[in-house]
Amino acid sequence: MTELSKTGAAVGEPVKASSDAPTAFLEVRDLKVHFPTDDGLVKSVDGVSFKVEKGKTLAIVGESGSGKSVTSLAVMGLHKLGARGKNVQISGEIWLDGKELVSAAPDEVRRLRGREMAMIFQDPLSAMHPYYTIGHQIVEAYRVHHDVSKKVARTRAIEMLDRVGIPEPTKRVDNYPHEFSGGMRQRAMIAMALVNNPELLIADEPTTALDVTVQAQILDLIRDLQKEFGSAVVMITHDLGVVAEIADDVLVMYGGRCVERGPVADIFEQPQHPYTWGLLGSMPRIDRETSERLIPVKGQPPSLINVPSGCAFHPRCPYADIPKGDVTRTVRPELTQVGTGHFSACHLSPEDRTRIWTEEIAPKL
Ligand SMILES: Nc1ncnc2c1ncn2[C@@H]1O[C@H](COP(=O)(O)OP(=O)(O)O)[C@@H](O)[C@H]1O
Ligand code: SF4
Ligand SMILES: [Mg+2]
Repeated sequence: MTELSKTGAAVGEPVKASSDAPTAFLEVRDLKVHFPTDDGLVKSVDGVSFKVEKGKTLAIVGESGSGKSVTSLAVMGLHKLGARGKNVQISGEIWLDGKELVSAAPDEVRRLRGREMAMIFQDPLSAMHPYYTIGHQIVEAYRVHHDVSKKVARTRAIEMLDRVGIPEPTKRVDNYPHEFSGGMRQRAMIAMALVNNPELLIADEPTTALDVTVQAQILDLIRDLQKEFGSAVVMITHDLGVVAEIADDVLVMYGGRCVERGPVADIFEQPQHPYTWGLLGSMPRIDRETSERLIPVKGQPPSLINVPSGCAFHPRCPYADIPKGDVTRTVRPELTQVGTGHFSACHLSPEDRTRIWTEEIAPKL
């Protein structure tokens, strides 16, 4: 067993790739996932590090295309599968419960997947087979890792369906995925993901496709199950409302890199990166009209083949001219510590950041 630090997720010094023993349940160090394509090398993830302890939730936020899903699929070892990921280049380290997964044999990672780590997706149909009943699929997921009879596994499947709030589970267990509503399918997928009590749950935009009421129920469910099983959770979302509700720590991704990470309270109360300010400005708020809610960050997300020089956010950053000279366009800002467990990659001085945040941004939010 790894000795666990008690400080929560995504804390400590910026973690560099090294063979030092990990200090957290999940520890990702300098992860890079690059895809060679006809158009060039797509640097989907380009040096991302984070930690998550058991019982804690790390939220990964960022616009579409910033590398969130690729990061989580890499943790699950899913990039070594399938035609699209055939030539993928993965480097860095992924430590799960003291085992390093990037260098592990595919069989070893497969053994851990489903048992120690599981993933839920935005679209449950992508994780479920249309021709088999829900019950059959949960039974199979369980029996891959447990040497039990079908009968025992079926009892377990019914128990899980009940646990995730499916009414009449003894009947519904024999339904096919298309016989379930969207929200019910999402619950069934969660039941399937959690049937083996995984210690790490990765949820990739699990509520995006659902209406607000069902969203809240699913989040409550994930939180309850996390409490019950003490799992580490990585929650990928572009909804900062979700983040505020369930995260302990937040990692903000931009263009395949981490631009800011820290405890959730710091990210909301003292964010230290202009991109995070932009995300907060686009956050839905209950006290505003829907039409006023979404002020997207101006401009387009960067190309991951030709990432802008210097700070990748500079073409969209309203403050790019404040740091002296051409530094924002020529020198890539490294993640530096700005508070306890709080890191930001920006050339603005601490004084400028504080002034802009307190005088210009915060009053408008
Ligand atoms: N197999 C692949 N081959 C080439 N590019 C890929 C592949 N998978 C993902 N990408 C690219 O990587 C980038 C990041 O994707 P993704 O992690 O899905 O973004 P997010 O989840 O943040 O929306 C996107 O530009 C996407 O097109
Ligand atoms: S380094 Fe410069 S361009 Fe990048 S976020 Fe900071 S101020 Fe903006
Ligand atoms: Mg995604």
